[in-house]
Order: sequence, then structure tokens, then C-alpha cells
Amino acid sequence: MRKKIIAGNWKMNMVKAEAITLTQGIANFALSTDLPEALTIVVSPVYPYLDLVNNHIPSVNDCHLYLSAQDCSAHEKGAHTGEVSPIMLKDIGCHYVILGHSERRAQHQESADLLAQKVGLALDSGLQIIFCCGEQLDERKAGNQNEIVIDQIKGSLGELSTDDWANIVIAYEPVWAIGTGETASPEQANDMHKAIRSFVADHLDQRAADQLSILYGGSVKPANAADLFACSDIDGALIGGASLKTDSFTAITQAMIEQIANV
Ligand code: 13P
Repeated sequence: MRKKIIAGNWKMNMVKAEAITLTQGIANFALSTDLPEALTIVVSPVYPYLDLVNNHIPSVNDCHLYLSAQDCSAHEKGAHTGEVSPIMLKDIGCHYVILGHSERRAQHQESADLLAQKVGLALDSGLQIIFCCGEQLDERKAGNQNEIVIDQIKGSLGELSTDDWANIVIAYEPVWAIGTGETASPEQANDMHKAIRSFVADHLDQRAADQLSILYGGSVKPANAADLFACSDIDGALIGGASLKTDSFTAITQAMIEQIANV
């Protein structure tokens, strides 16, 4: 079975005490639940709390809980004020880094080339990448969504080897569904995930495509998680708003646990 991932992207939310409470809540859930082998749970706080959150992740092998950053620099070190190197992220215990989120593309003008550099350096640093892609509403209305998303993937991941792809997770996040309460239907999401998998099969090989975990993101909540996870090509979720409360995040995780048990 492909790796199933429930990832919380906390964005610029949670002060210190809240970050600790949430991490403890998720850790308690993870430790008190019989988690399937295939399940990975990811939390992604802001840079200043990465180390703190890491210290509240139980250091037992079967806790399934991993730390992610929300971005990284394209540079190893040096005169880059305000930036954080993926080497430093790895050094303090991150397993993952989210790259290419639509908020960074829009608010920080991150281009495909810049993202390709970040991806390359993050892989060299030993991080796994959660690479975000997704179309705008007008692009979907025009029926161009597949082309847009595949271009984003080609533009930043097109040069990677099959070995590199073993460390890539794709998160399909239609921009019109992020923070809007509007979710892509399970069919819309699954169709896109199939298109992404088929691109990887053509571009690399079937094995890499079969092993690739593709997450859906955009207003995922306990009420819609089970229907999304029941789809053949949806391997989990990248969750914003609903990842900020223990109850809703663990309810979504529980939906994935039940889905895995049903297969
Ligand atoms: P919401 O779940 O708040 O829509 O955010 C999705 C997202 O952007 C996760 O990266």
C-alpha cells in the first residue's frame, strides 16, 4: 500500500502555548490509537516553534508523527537575511518541507525555477518534499486545470530522477478551495490525482507513479474526509484550518485509519 499521509499545515497560526497543546493532543491520539503501518501524520508549525514542537513529539518508533517546515531557502547558508536553510531544518529534526504552496507562489512571487532550486537543495539536505500544486478558479472554469497543474509539476520537478521521486509527496490544492469552505468534489480531486499519477508514469515509470502519495488539500474537514479518502488515488490530505484543533485533525486522521482498514 502507498504511504497514507495526514498533514497539518498550521500556516501562520498558533502561539507557543497553543502549539504545545495541539502537539500534545495529536501525540496522545497517536499513542493511544492502533495506527496502521501505512499511516504517517505530519505537523507543520512556523519556523520559531519547530524545535519546540519536535520536543513534544514522542520519541518512540511507532508514533507515526513527523515534523515539517512550511518553506525553506534555496540557499545552503550565507547572506540571506530572514531565510532558513533546509540543512538547518534537517538538523533540528524536520522530516518534511512543504514547497510551492499557493500562498507562497502568490504572496512571495515564487516561480517554478525558484521552487526547482528549493526542491533540489531540500532533497540534497535529506528532507522529503510535500510539493503543492493547484489551479485558480478561472483556470478550472476554462477547463485548463490539468494542463496548469502538470506544468507546475514539470516546471519544478521535471528534472528529478526516479530515486528523487521516492522522496516527493504531491499535494493537489485547488486555489479556489483553500480556506473558502468550498471543497473539490471527490471526483474532481480524484480525476486530478489520476492525471498527476499518469504524468509521473509517462515521465518516469509506472513504479514511481504507483508509489507516489498524492494528497488533497482545500477545506478538508471531518465531514468530507471519508468521501475523499475513499477515492482510489487520494492518499491523504494537507489540511489548513481543520488542522488547528486536536478534535478536527484527529477526526480526519481517524477517517483515514478507517479507510485503510476497509481496503
Ligand atoms: P484549508 O484546509 O484551510 O482550506 O487550507 C488548505 C491548505 O492550504 C493546506 O495547505
